[in-house]
Amino acid sequence: MNKFFLIAACTLLCLGVLAQPATPAIIPQPVQLQQGQGFFTLPATITIATNSKEALPVAQMLGKQINKATGFNYAVKEQSEKLNGALHLVIGNNIAGIGQEGYQLAVTTTDVQLQANTAAGLFYGVQTLLQLLPPAIESNTVINDKSIAWQMPVVTITDYPRFGWRGLMLDVSRHFFTKQEVKDFIDNMVKYKYNMLHLHLTDDQGWRIEIKSLPKLTTVGAWRAERTGDWGTFTKPTPEEPKTYGGFYTQEDIKELVQYAKERFVSIMPEIDVPGHSMAMVAAYPELSCTPGTYLVNSGDRFMIWPGNGTFYGTIDNTLCPANEKVFEYLDKVFEEVAALFPFPYIHMGGDECYKGYWEKSDAVSALMKKEKLKDMHEVQSYFVKRVEKIVRSKGKQLMGWDEILEGGLAEGAAVMSWRGMKGGIEAAKMNRPVVMTPNTHTYVDLYQGDPVAEPPTYSRLLLNQSYKFEPVPDGVDPKLILGGQANLWSERLSTVRHAEYMLWPRGLAVAESIWSPKEKKDWNSFLKRTEAHFDRLDAAATNYSRSMYDAGFTVSKDATGNLLITLTKQVEDVVLHYSFDESFPDQFYPVYTKPLTVPKDASNLRVVSYRNGKQVGKQIKMPIAELKKRSERK
Ligand code: ACM
Repeated sequence: MNKFFLIAACTLLCLGVLAQPATPAIIPQPVQLQQGQGFFTLPATITIATNSKEALPVAQMLGKQINKATGFNYAVKEQSEKLNGALHLVIGNNIAGIGQEGYQLAVTTTDVQLQANTAAGLFYGVQTLLQLLPPAIESNTVINDKSIAWQMPVVTITDYPRFGWRGLMLDVSRHFFTKQEVKDFIDNMVKYKYNMLHLHLTDDQGWRIEIKSLPKLTTVGAWRAERTGDWGTFTKPTPEEPKTYGGFYTQEDIKELVQYAKERFVSIMPEIDVPGHSMAMVAAYPELSCTPGTYLVNSGDRFMIWPGNGTFYGTIDNTLCPANEKVFEYLDKVFEEVAALFPFPYIHMGGDECYKGYWEKSDAVSALMKKEKLKDMHEVQSYFVKRVEKIVRSKGKQLMGWDEILEGGLAEGAAVMSWRGMKGGIEAAKMNRPVVMTPNTHTYVDLYQGDPVAEPPTYSRLLLNQSYKFEPVPDGVDPKLILGGQANLWSERLSTVRHAEYMLWPRGLAVAESIWSPKEKKDWNSFLKRTEAHFDRLDAAATNYSRSMYDAGFTVSKDATGNLLITLTKQVEDVVLHYSFDESFPDQFYPVYTKPLTVPKDASNLRVVSYRNGKQVGKQIKMPIAELKKRSERK
């Protein structure tokens, strides 16, 4: 081929490639997206115009983020007529088919038009719009890199959510997260169109909300002896030991958080977890226990024992006494103040994992059972839940609880949050009750996201590919009763924001897509590609996340002669696994895993690392052979 022709062909090809932007990586996947030719390039000065006062704060948030990262100086203006070359945020008049949270986004080479029926819809459109810009737009400081083209591809998007309840639960009891950290959490969750922050405000390890009529809940209940290390192995606190770890939100703090969330179209649902998980309350007011004694806020020492068959028992009574009228008087005060602080219509009362062994030994509970004709401990708990439901209703709110509130009979008017899989949700829906699906099989983002030998200690396993299979509406259930879904971030073992972020992302992306996007739009391979693109965005935002999806998984069996057979599994199909048995660190020049491995005689460890295109993408995992032997012997 003629050299000149070759260069010309190559140039045209290259220009063609450059002119065709990469497919946008939007999470959650929009309902409809059509990509055109070319880009809209952000000019250095521009006006973000909106036709409505209501949308002005949304336009300002967009301008602020653009200015922060680019160093541009975008003005925001309320103005009804179209401005040339502007970004337009328009609240329309009954735009069909997109509901109250949907939006339409049209990017051309000359302008950007975002339309919605509400400011909330515009806000979600803004999140999509930011995802069309380069990852550096997520930066909290000005990026002075001249090579960055502040461009977005020409696209037309129509988008709206599948569910109205798109929740994230943050446990601020086991470890306390400051008001600013909660605000940052809200900023991160809205990027993926979550709209519900469920705050787990009370538990055995701390009471985190000021209740003015019961001051000891926070002077005593919000503080515990400090421990660091492997949760569940800590020594018990002593009465004289200083209680230095903890904190709580004043009522002014709560008002500020509720307002901050509202400005970002997020509702906050408070949870007061009773009658179990109540050690902090009992430490503050020991008279609320059926078991007299001195109680201390738990510091991470183990007092609930899980023998492994789904049952559990407590070695300290961490429950409120259902046979003590004072308990209901106190809870009336608590819910009175809580109801006044949170505009959201539901209050969550927990109700989970209540060990009833101490109730069984209580004369007061026996007398209550006789008086109320309660035949077992489930009915005693149901009695308690029904009393709480009445209190909550008297404050003008509806009760929600974990699926244990079904046991012994569900209280009238209560909604159920299904966590032990989907079955509690299915049962509640059959009773025509509203349900939020948060199954631990798919949405518990505090669980292991890779092999336990290579991850910080936690409980059972939930890989990203399993999270992505979350489908909130089970077969045979009326979808209207499923309010939506939620990911739960329990914090027993998460003492820092960095660790919390590591657990939440990217599984929080998988759950976000499962509750926003149409079921038929979900596609694991597409999600993986987009997730990888979002790693760059999370990096730019200095948000932590886990790359464990690249790591090898291990399954073990025995061959016909009883030798171990190790199968390595992958979540990301195109990574290459390299391994060693000789105690050296494998790299891309080591053997490639192609079929189940047998262990060389006397080898102690198998090391595995994942590569793609000559670059290490996963952690190097050291798996003891003794551990694999142990696993192979487990039934
Ligand atoms: C729960 O995970 N105990 C609701």
